[in-house]
Amino acid sequence: MSSLKQLVDKIAPRERGAGAPPHARLYPSFARMSLTAARYVLLTTLLGDPHLVESAIRLEGNRLPYWHNPPAEVRERLRGVVVLDPFAGGGSIPLEAARMGAHAVALEYNPVQWLALKTIQLARERGRELIDPKAWEALKRWYRRGFGADMEAMCRSGEAEKAGPLAREGCRIALELEAELSRHYPPKGGRRVTHYIWVKQVRCPKCGAWVPLVMSSVLDRKRGISWKPVYNGDDYDVVVERGGEGVRTVSRGTATCLVCGYKIKKKEVRESVGHNDKMVVVVTEDKKFHPADEADRKAYEEVPEPERLTEQLSPLDPRTVRPPVYGWTRYGDLFNKRQHVYLNRLVERLKQLEPDIRTVLAWLVARQADYNSRMTSWDANKLGVMHTTSFKSVRVSYDYVEVNPFARGASSLWNALYDAINGFAFLVHAMEEAGPFEPVFGSALRLPFPDSSIRYVVTDPPYFDSIPYSESYDFYYVWLKRVVGDLYPEAFSYWTLWRDRSAEDISVGGGRTAEHFRTFLKRAFREIRRVLADDGVFVVFYAHPKREAWVALAEAVTGAGFTVEDVYPLRMWMETDVHARGKDAITVAYVFIMRPKTQQSPAPNSLEAEVEKALEQMVTAYRGNDLKMGAYAAAVKVAAHMDAVDAVEKAEHIFSHLQAQTSMSPSVSP
Ligand SMILES: C[S@@+](CC[C@H](N)C(=O)[O-])C[C@H]1O[C@@H](n2cnc3c(N)ncnc32)[C@H](O)[C@@H]1O
Ligand SMILES: [Zn+2]
Repeated sequence: MSSLKQLVDKIAPRERGAGAPPHARLYPSFARMSLTAARYVLLTTLLGDPHLVESAIRLEGNRLPYWHNPPAEVRERLRGVVVLDPFAGGGSIPLEAARMGAHAVALEYNPVQWLALKTIQLARERGRELIDPKAWEALKRWYRRGFGADMEAMCRSGEAEKAGPLAREGCRIALELEAELSRHYPPKGGRRVTHYIWVKQVRCPKCGAWVPLVMSSVLDRKRGISWKPVYNGDDYDVVVERGGEGVRTVSRGTATCLVCGYKIKKKEVRESVGHNDKMVVVVTEDKKFHPADEADRKAYEEVPEPERLTEQLSPLDPRTVRPPVYGWTRYGDLFNKRQHVYLNRLVERLKQLEPDIRTVLAWLVARQADYNSRMTSWDANKLGVMHTTSFKSVRVSYDYVEVNPFARGASSLWNALYDAINGFAFLVHAMEEAGPFEPVFGSALRLPFPDSSIRYVVTDPPYFDSIPYSESYDFYYVWLKRVVGDLYPEAFSYWTLWRDRSAEDISVGGGRTAEHFRTFLKRAFREIRRVLADDGVFVVFYAHPKREAWVALAEAVTGAGFTVEDVYPLRMWMETDVHARGKDAITVAYVFIMRPKTQQSPAPNSLEAEVEKALEQMVTAYRGNDLKMGAYAAAVKVAAHMDAVDAVEKAEHIFSHLQAQTSMSPSVSP
């Protein structure tokens, strides 16, 4: 393994969590690829020169490679080279391709991800008019707080506008909204409230008492603070205590009545949970927890009933789209009254902005909805909000957190504004000397390009059932369409994505079967073959713990007539990531370097030899599913030559056989 490859393996997973590039906090992207990994693969594919490759992937102190743009020499070499990503998502691959000077074409089927690509393009074309990155950096230093900056103070002082119209307009609408709505969030004991913690409730069918649905009532794990109900008849008051154990009333969907002990069945909980939420705890800016009192509830009651979102959540996939199972069938059901009023007003304000600024700041509503819904929950370790889509689709929670957008705190409007401006500023910096970046709203099944017209296709296609894109992005879509629908009617006139824009979504979920995935992935690869020049290169990232996912890939590669020149693993995730948890844990993706198959394509070794070779390369660094995928990947390579899809199945046998051999095991285990 080259030392550069080792470096990439080490740093690519760091682009999650705290190490994420700034634009990851501007717009959501469930399958965002590491920029370092994208850069490495693009450079090694497009440039022969290992020296140049190395010059573009440097770790400066602790600063990850995405912070610096590749040297001019790289950009010179790649000027005019077209790189297509037909499954562009949030755009990591085309972003890096453009930064290296190439002409990036980024195609996406999903409107939310297409809008992200549009935002990148805007950063390149008009970024400098919207924000002055130097002035922004200076302001950040001046107002530094924690890992970010005190956006509220920057807005109040009027200084934010020094960074240009994006910051000026962002501050203007934040301050106007605050002036209009902060009366709905009155202070408590002289301090601003940051969060309201709510629980959903059911009435005990046996004794009639109100039962709060809670998995854990711990508020601060470190300091040992929790809340508990104290009954007075069939209703309860809340006390906050130190050293107590808190309460838990739900387990596996059934609830226990705290008064009579009755076990409330799963079905009863689902049928009666409805909208009987109760505010239990109020958190103030000094991180103190208070039992919610009459005044807190009254402030809530006084909020007028909002006009609610009427779009339906997908009823077709109750296993992944859970809220309808509990009777929350419309997006409007996912927000309490005050949350919804706030988001509606935010939409109204955003709609008044000029088109480009609106496109960037539209993401505020996506972010704010994510952190301020009835499907969030309280994180007692970080003392903050676990957001709605933290499991890559709308989750169901029993407790939830309502955020005061105008107080301090990670989920406030101030912070969202900071993140949006900062994310955009990063894109502006990244695109400074970049080649053209062209977003296309379309489908990989029908590429709008002539035959044999493209030399490089580099992409990260959907990974089987990892994410039901249409259903997952709908949560953002229903809000975004209200802000930018008139600007981009082609992409934002759908009622919902699950109903109107999922027919060609190549993923399993939302009613789309494994068969759908196989058929459509194959069609997409054929279409890619059509537009690829005969001497072109097709690079694919792929990862999945299940065999079925690899059979589909093998079929697509074989069916479209590609040959696999090389395949290697790249580490993408840390073991603590969502992708990497549990028995399906994976931490690597495989990179396939493919070419159109010709008479001259060299034949690979036997399946056994290929699998053995693949595993040998990896045994020292990889294990578990990562290693198993290596066998599958080798099988795909061989299958492409034998035209035999059952190579994947054969590979699995060989793999188990190899694993069983004691000679292998010492090196297989880490
Ligand atoms: C694995 S993700 C790509 C992630 C991307 N590399 C990134 O860094 O964000 C696959 C993408 O394919 C898109 N997709 C699914 N079906 C498609 C189709 N028929 N045409 C184009 N894109 C499609 C999904 O919406 C999703 O964004
Ligand atoms: Zn009871």
